[in-house]
Amino acid sequence: MIALRSAHNSIVFNTINNKLSIFHWGALLNEGELGSDVIAATTRAVSHSHWDQPTTADVMREHSKGFIGHPTLEGHRNGQAWSTHFELVSETHTTNSLQATLVDDHAKLSLVLTYTLTPDGVLTINADLTNSGDTGYVLNQYVHWLPLADQAAQVMDFTGRWSHERHPQRRDISYGLTTREEREGRTSHDYTIAQLAMTKNANFSSGEVWSMSVAFSGNSVHHVEKTQFGDQSIGAGELFLPGEIIIKPGESFTIAPVQASYSACGIDGISQNFHSTLRKRTHHPTNIRPRPLTLNVWEAVYFDHNSEKIKALADVAAEIGVERMVLDDGWFHLRRNDRAGLGDWVVDPTVWPNGFTEIIEYLNTRGIEFGLWFEGEMVQIDSDLYRAHPEWILHEGDRIPALQRNQLVLDITHPGAFDHVLGQVDHVLSSFNISYIKWDHNRILNDAGHLGQAAVHNQTLATYRLFDELKRRHPGLEIESCASGGARIDLGMIEHADRFWTSDNNDALERQTIQRWTSLVIPPEMLGTHIGPTRGHQTGKTTELSFRAINALFGHAGIEWDITETTAHEREILKSWAALYKEKRTLLHSGRSVRIDYPDSHAFLYGVVAHDKSEALFAFMQHLMPSSNFSPKLRFTGLDASSQYRVRLITEVGAPRTLQVGNITWGEGVVLSGAALESVGLQPPTLAPENGILISLIKQ
Ligand code: DGJ
Repeated sequence: MIALRSAHNSIVFNTINNKLSIFHWGALLNEGELGSDVIAATTRAVSHSHWDQPTTADVMREHSKGFIGHPTLEGHRNGQAWSTHFELVSETHTTNSLQATLVDDHAKLSLVLTYTLTPDGVLTINADLTNSGDTGYVLNQYVHWLPLADQAAQVMDFTGRWSHERHPQRRDISYGLTTREEREGRTSHDYTIAQLAMTKNANFSSGEVWSMSVAFSGNSVHHVEKTQFGDQSIGAGELFLPGEIIIKPGESFTIAPVQASYSACGIDGISQNFHSTLRKRTHHPTNIRPRPLTLNVWEAVYFDHNSEKIKALADVAAEIGVERMVLDDGWFHLRRNDRAGLGDWVVDPTVWPNGFTEIIEYLNTRGIEFGLWFEGEMVQIDSDLYRAHPEWILHEGDRIPALQRNQLVLDITHPGAFDHVLGQVDHVLSSFNISYIKWDHNRILNDAGHLGQAAVHNQTLATYRLFDELKRRHPGLEIESCASGGARIDLGMIEHADRFWTSDNNDALERQTIQRWTSLVIPPEMLGTHIGPTRGHQTGKTTELSFRAINALFGHAGIEWDITETTAHEREILKSWAALYKEKRTLLHSGRSVRIDYPDSHAFLYGVVAHDKSEALFAFMQHLMPSSNFSPKLRFTGLDASSQYRVRLITEVGAPRTLQVGNITWGEGVVLSGAALESVGLQPPTLAPENGILISLIKQ
């Protein structure tokens, strides 16, 4: 047996009879804890009406070995070599990785599988498939699978649509496949971000949880399967369109990786494993610099660009303490509305006669950086680019794909189209002091073909290449990945982008759920969380500023509001909120995310606790009318039980509306032990719906 171990979990492989199988994936098993009798203790007999010999699980789930559930690999060579039988020929391993080579001499395929477990418990599975035959091999599917322990009883995944991303659905694991497919050619608003399997009563802080996510930004599939034998497993992979992947003789194909994790301490354990792992990357944004407070002008001006208005916004932004201002859609050739211009990435002299030099200087002298919006994978019929190269669109046959937001997808797998976008964007970035771009992607890919063959896979890789090349040419460049809000947030894009626009919905109540679940695997400092206007542009609802301010604090904070219209009082709050964000961002962007299972489902209680437990910041957010006259006490976990904490209400975000006479008695500050805060708790005020409070806990 070969075991890979992290601080929180382990995976144990078996390599007998030329097979690679996974014996255990879950709780941490230390050296020697399995014992030599474990195989005898777990071996099954033969089932009635089944194979004469017991079958053992294999990472390659194949009919030829007696596996009759959903397979790992499917493909063929012109109808031949359709059934595979891979055998393990070699393996090498260390304490945190295993690389195995498997070969099928008949199908003429070989596979190099690599399992890598980070010290914080995230497992990445990579695979490279080589065609050693002399005909093309059509790869229909490749799904990475991991076994689930028998006690996994439920599956939780996430669904969504525009402005309503990442909504959980939880159901019992039943026989057969539970599947989530995404076929939008981009990650999708509906992308599950992670598929979770969990024990029956698992919650944020207890129970066992297994997760798996495809680390890729194209089409995807996530499964949980329970077979007639009672075996359960979780699987995920890229979803290929018909004929999309044909591996030429002698060539290899890199399968999109998956990332998986196991937590013995609830859903938050999964988040902690991912957040800690991702934060150790040298290119993780907070390892480069603190995340600047951002103002995006989209909802303030939309397409109505005019330098006087932008300067007026900059003046207020400077007063508030904004550090970066992003000029959104509407600055380039022909782009006065959403019907024209995509594809022509040149500054439009009718709106910006002197380019951006003057406005950037105006901002920079006020201590504000400049960021700019692009949507480089798109083109519009009314654009110089389309007029010159109508063939540079993803399409099939003579059909023009259905339009979405009046736009088509530029086929950047075409070298000419790729060079065009790279060249124009590079030129803009080289001409002005721009260190940040917001990169949008506002349509679904349909009929996404290149010269007659489905091209989502190659288009996705071309986007990654484009981002990487822009960063190579412009060291320090940060890229925000946006796709009509949160339609391209995934563990593949996270290696190429530095921030995600979490949702187009800036209504703080709606954002509560969206942010809670997007940060399941994405560290909050990579999620754009902006204070929207008093009346939300998406929902039309009005929301208290304090509620919006608290909501926006738990991420990469920003503002998306016409702040020239704010009252003096609102500006004062924005100012103190901005100062608070700057004071607390190290904690917010490095601490452990804690979500409490609060007894009243009409409210959320969550926060961030410093890793050394010296400090914490919690939000109590009342979503709907409190269920009782007095809300359940706030019981905080993750603190040091034996230490004393000074607890106080943070007032810099403005006051909430309450439904009680008088104030809470601890607001000015009380001292309580971590144990008392966890087991007794704090009486919150009874808050009106869509109101919240922010609580600081500092170790004495
Ligand atoms: C959709 C994005 O999600 C918005 O934030 C904004 O950038 C618009 N596109 C601009 O067209």
